[in-house]
Amino acid sequence: MAVLCTACADTPGAIPGAWPLFDEVREVTGDSAMVVSGHPLASEVGVELLRAGGNAVDAAVAVGFALAVVLPEAGNIGGGGFMVIRQASGETLALDYRETAPARATRDMYRDPAGGVSEAIRVGHLASGVPGSVAGLAEAQRRFGRLTLARVLAPAIRLAHEGHVLDGHRARSIASAAGRLRRFEASRRTWLPGGAPPDSGTVFTQPDLARTLHAIADSGPRAFYEGWIADSVAAEMERGGGLIGKDDLARYVPIWREPVTITYRGHTIHSMPLSSSGGVTLALILNMLEGWDSLPPPASAEHVHLLAEVMRRAFMDRNEYLADPAFVDVPTARLTSQAYADRRRDDIREAVATPSTAVRPGLQEGTETTHYSVVDADGNAVAVTTTINSGFGSGVTVSGAGFLLNNEMDDFTAAPGEPNIYGLVQGAANAIAPHKRMLSAMSPTIVLDPDGRLLMLLGSPGGPSIITTVAQVISYIVDYGLSLADAVAAPRVHHQGLPDSLRYERRGLQGFTVRRLERMGHHPDERPGYSGDVAAVMRSAGGGWLGVADPRQGGGAVGY
Ligand code: DON
Repeated sequence: MAVLCTACADTPGAIPGAWPLFDEVREVTGDSAMVVSGHPLASEVGVELLRAGGNAVDAAVAVGFALAVVLPEAGNIGGGGFMVIRQASGETLALDYRETAPARATRDMYRDPAGGVSEAIRVGHLASGVPGSVAGLAEAQRRFGRLTLARVLAPAIRLAHEGHVLDGHRARSIASAAGRLRRFEASRRTWLPGGAPPDSGTVFTQPDLARTLHAIADSGPRAFYEGWIADSVAAEMERGGGLIGKDDLARYVPIWREPVTITYRGHTIHSMPLSSSGGVTLALILNMLEGWDSLPPPASAEHVHLLAEVMRRAFMDRNEYLADPAFVDVPTARLTSQAYADRRRDDIREAVATPSTAVRPGLQEGTETTHYSVVDADGNAVAVTTTINSGFGSGVTVSGAGFLLNNEMDDFTAAPGEPNIYGLVQGAANAIAPHKRMLSAMSPTIVLDPDGRLLMLLGSPGGPSIITTVAQVISYIVDYGLSLADAVAAPRVHHQGLPDSLRYERRGLQGFTVRRLERMGHHPDERPGYSGDVAAVMRSAGGGWLGVADPRQGGGAVGY
């Protein structure tokens, strides 16, 4: 595998030579089609649908429902997501099926008497927004799918009904959330059978979830939003003091939107518009980076400095301006323009960090998720990022229906100056209001080459670091010519304005690079582990497709 720098250990400003992911990453090839997702079984489901005559949308929707079964910490029907679709014809559009605040939500509902934010924003019934996943997946399938919804749901129902063998990743992840899951009766029954997390190798069946998926296959999304599943959600909410009522479910609609589109060094980038901040913030970062004709050697202090400075500025803008466009006027066109980025990067100093407190939002005048990417034999492309927010969401399983509810309310600004679970300090634009979509960072992204041909699809989990992960993988490919595998494996950094810390993956920067960054005024902060989990597909130079599931977690790529 072509590694960026073979003598890295001694080369100033290079990726550490012992960086382990270059040896672990695997590139899968497919002559016709490719599916990459956060779980190998879900990727196989996608390919099953493609081989059965489905297109990329059928396959993506099938992957989405399968992930709700095999990747319960993130795959979901109790959460929401974002989809970017590019038809082989070139038509590109985005589907927003983000959760909404319930009608009875109020701006200060999580403020505790001391002015802080209560735990209820993250754990338990009050933490959930109205789920959008079923409506969104069904809508994409209705509009673009070739097969029936029942056919697309069949593999997920099979996996839930017959069970699947829990792998080590999943067993560990259920065990790590056991404390939270134990607090809620249906969660205890579902995820801790016999009172303990299931062992890896267990055949895990989910009969309640199978029944729920069956009802959706039989009656469509209405079963979820108006039928007995809606009754179960409302009853669960009443039991636990949550706010989602049957009216909230009945009025939920997914929204088709225009993607955010920019160019980066001749490549066209289509990414997710608001209510995700992903596309706009990615645009800010890449537009600022484009201001340099070439970038310093990868992972050098100079390179990381530039990344940190553009990320810092992009996030200060994100946190101040971006929110659900149905509630707040957001100057998206200006924020994503090259002219704005040129002005924004003007005060970036060579080798001197700008403290985040000194970066005012730029328009003065006037922070477990999963991603999957599918390409079919006709060149239709679908990039989807979906979540219930943090791993296993609110921890609440809907009794009798077998699925977990999200804790997405934490993506709103709950109190001024108070960081959310990802340390994001957000502004008033993203305050809680009934029916409002909480600001997201999810960034399903499609990249075209300078000839306008589909080049790449990618996305990642990671909260705010989703955006910076996607930006870095694109830059590693466009700016440095790395292979897809190396671009995904390469170590990443992250800066989100506030807190003013420059996060880097464990051992992802060399010691002298870290010390140089400190001398520049940065605050490098080594993470305990890795960051993100990219699922990417890229056109292969020899024809066909390359698929890479990030070695950071246990995903899978399947092509044919
Ligand atoms: O929408 C968002 O930005 C967050 N709810 C995403 C959460 C996430 O990526 C967690 N995964 N590591």
